[in-house]
Amino acid sequence: MNDAMTLSQRADALEAKMSSELDYIVIKSRLYSMAEADMSPAPNAGQIMAKNPKARVLMGDDPRLPEMPAKPTLIDFFHYRFGPCMHLLQSARHAVKGGLSDKMVLACLLHDISTMGLIRGDHGYWGAQLVEPYVDEEVTWAIRAHQALRFYPDESVGYEYPASYVKTFGADYRPDDYVEADYKRMRDHKWYMSGRMITVHDIYSFDPNVHVELEEFTDVIGRNFRQPKEGLGFDNSPVAHMWRAMIRPAKYL
Ligand SMILES: [Fe+2]
Ligand SMILES: [Fe+2]
Repeated sequence: MNDAMTLSQRADALEAKMSSELDYIVIKSRLYSMAEADMSPAPNAGQIMAKNPKARVLMGDDPRLPEMPAKPTLIDFFHYRFGPCMHLLQSARHAVKGGLSDKMVLACLLHDISTMGLIRGDHGYWGAQLVEPYVDEEVTWAIRAHQALRFYPDESVGYEYPASYVKTFGADYRPDDYVEADYKRMRDHKWYMSGRMITVHDIYSFDPNVHVELEEFTDVIGRNFRQPKEGLGFDNSPVAHMWRAMIRPAKYL
């Protein structure tokens, strides 16, 4: 580069050089753009490619993300997609100490996988759907139920409205009507207490000093999660595409 260039000219030149050398173009899903309050039209792949003829839009693995095995297991998702998930591990250990059944320990281990890997809003519903083909029906039901039950106290098991919610959502926050309606339905369900147990063992006050290894739950997963032999995302299940969305979150089409 020319020594006479200013710092910002150098940065621009470097960026131009990099983008002309980059062999892939990432175009975000509209959902991500809307989360940035960006309602502008989706980027035009043709226009971007015109500036950078060697590049292609991303249709395969994203080189910026950890590579996943061809037939990913649930444990692979924990390692390569869910990121630090100490909250789930701490909740599951808490459930073991509380004497919960094997499958309910799994429910605690999985209850927030949607916030870890897919989407936050309505995460209980998304998370339940993700695991539905692979776990006992009660596990799915409980994960779905924790979404609503977490907002409502149950004195019989010492569950109070989380103090952290008052701080996080404001003292005047009230759950949406559909959450309230689901809570009322779930209250009378035969598996109510299973869903409630997830909220009881949900560690709202994350303890940075408690370290739990996923390996502690390898056997629980093995006994209670029907890992598809083709790998999650490739077993032709009704939710396979949802797992694939986590494998390749920026796939163009
Ligand atoms: Fe949750
Ligand atoms: Fe949680």
